[in-house]
Amino acid sequence: MSGVRSVLFSFASDSYRYAVREIREAFPGEHRFERLGAEVARLADTAVGVGEFAAACDEGRIMFVRHLTREVAGYPLDDLPTESELATTLVEEIQARSVAVQAWIDGAGTGGSYRRLIADALGTRGISTELAGQDVVVSGVAAGKQLLIGVNRLADSLSDWPGGRMRLARGEERVSRSEFKLEEAIATFGLELPAGGKALDLGASPGGWTRILRQHGQEVWSVDPGSLDPRLRGDRRIHHEATTAGRFFAANRVRFDVVVNDMRMDQVLSARMMLDAAAHLQRGGLAIVTLKGGGKNPLDGARHGIDVLREQYAVLHARQLHHNRNEITIIAHRH
Ligand SMILES: C[S@@+](CC[C@H](N)C(=O)[O-])C[C@H]1O[C@@H](n2cnc3c(N)ncnc32)[C@H](O)[C@@H]1O
Repeated sequence: MSGVRSVLFSFASDSYRYAVREIREAFPGEHRFERLGAEVARLADTAVGVGEFAAACDEGRIMFVRHLTREVAGYPLDDLPTESELATTLVEEIQARSVAVQAWIDGAGTGGSYRRLIADALGTRGISTELAGQDVVVSGVAAGKQLLIGVNRLADSLSDWPGGRMRLARGEERVSRSEFKLEEAIATFGLELPAGGKALDLGASPGGWTRILRQHGQEVWSVDPGSLDPRLRGDRRIHHEATTAGRFFAANRVRFDVVVNDMRMDQVLSARMMLDAAAHLQRGGLAIVTLKGGGKNPLDGARHGIDVLREQYAVLHARQLHHNRNEITIIAHRH
């Protein structure tokens, strides 16, 4: 999987220019970008390997890219290949006996028919296909009038969901839409919360993140002047502190293993709150923070916030996840 190839990358529709700027800065030199749809673009005929691209994203140097694949073929939607033609192309790219096949449509839709086409084609060559959980991922994305096909290692794909679009069940038990952001962060970055840990949830109301933290076995201190959903009130391992983060820190004596922060405030203010939080967090403790755009330039704002965080934290990941709005999610450890 080397040589000059195009890379397909996906992003939130209004973050394209930030993704391009980050890629240019991470890989100086001439590049040709082609926007193929609202949420997908091509880095054309590039010497940038998908592995080094993925590493830059994993390390948070590129925050506004959600999913990557190496482009191996493209077909007009009104003239799709037969199973046999597609199989001939794909088997040259795939050594594995079993792969994940993930398809998506730029805009609306799930891409089920494209997924079936790819899976059936591979089936004719004895390659078994799953939805996820395989080392090799075959992607199909319908963008504009084309079906583009990519093949990539899962390790270099950033997400095990079609185009990075994680789908989570919308059950009755959900307390807030924000819950999805925390679930996605935990799954995407493979985070493990310490068994029986103590977690601080800053900006907790109405309690979605608190609920997810409880599911991960944490005792939770939920700080927010706003109220918690009544369904959380009977839980004795949830302590609602109906105050601001600053007032909470002034009085707190608990030492936390985990701090999460989904407070609605400017990136730098939010990062400064995390410096205050560090004094209440164990060394090596886990921090999960959303830095919210708000202002005109979410990229510079996020970078500024991360610089502040680095005074007290090792920043492991930074990414605009699928469930993030105008914000990025940071994963860090306290120094
Ligand atoms: C996006 S909401 C949090 C949603 C929550 N994570 C959930 O899943 O339900 C942002 C919250 O930040 C809170 N907030 C803003 N500034 C705060 C501060 N200084 N201290 C505590 N909470 C604050 C707001 O009251 C608001 O409830």
